[in-house]
Amino acid sequence: MAAGESSTAAGSPPWDHTELTVGEVARRSGVAVSALHFYERQGLITSRRTGGNQRRYRRDVLRRVAFIRTSRRVGIPLVRIGEALAALPADRAPSRKDWARLSRAWREDLDARIEQMERLRDTLTDCIGCGCLSLKTCTLNNPHDELSGTGAGPRRLLVDGVEDDDGVGRPAGSPAP
Ligand code: FES
Repeated sequence: MAAGESSTAAGSPPWDHTELTVGEVARRSGVAVSALHFYERQGLITSRRTGGNQRRYRRDVLRRVAFIRTSRRVGIPLVRIGEALAALPADRAPSRKDWARLSRAWREDLDARIEQMERLRDTLTDCIGCGCLSLKTCTLNNPHDELSGTGAGPRRLLVDGVEDDDGVGRPAGSPAP
């Protein structure tokens, strides 16, 4: 390789390219082109069009896509991801400071989700207040399904502020059983 020439893993965009094609973003991020188009339609990422009407992405789109992909992997709804990304500047590559601001706003949400996952991991052998009344402990923890009066779903499992993709969950501030 000649001096100054860039090298990359097979199929990845050269490291010194500041703008990437959709195929290059797909290969480097591991996200399908169709998913990238979907993210763009949802306003999560943006591109510019060349004279030939082809998409070109700023290289920092890779960090956004990584954020979206990782967040989706742990079950965070796209709408919440979009709200978080809206805190980043659209017209330039986000700085460390910009990401720190997003991170602070995101922490409360992540903490609630972690608590939700811990409850799911730790409470499934006990009554979760779902209305089934099938375990011995239901008589103690949810006699006569009294918890149904506080709302839908497994009342002893849900954590405030965590909703699933269908918008089901206990909104922040709703009464805990
Ligand atoms: S586990 Fe369903 S009500 Fe107790």
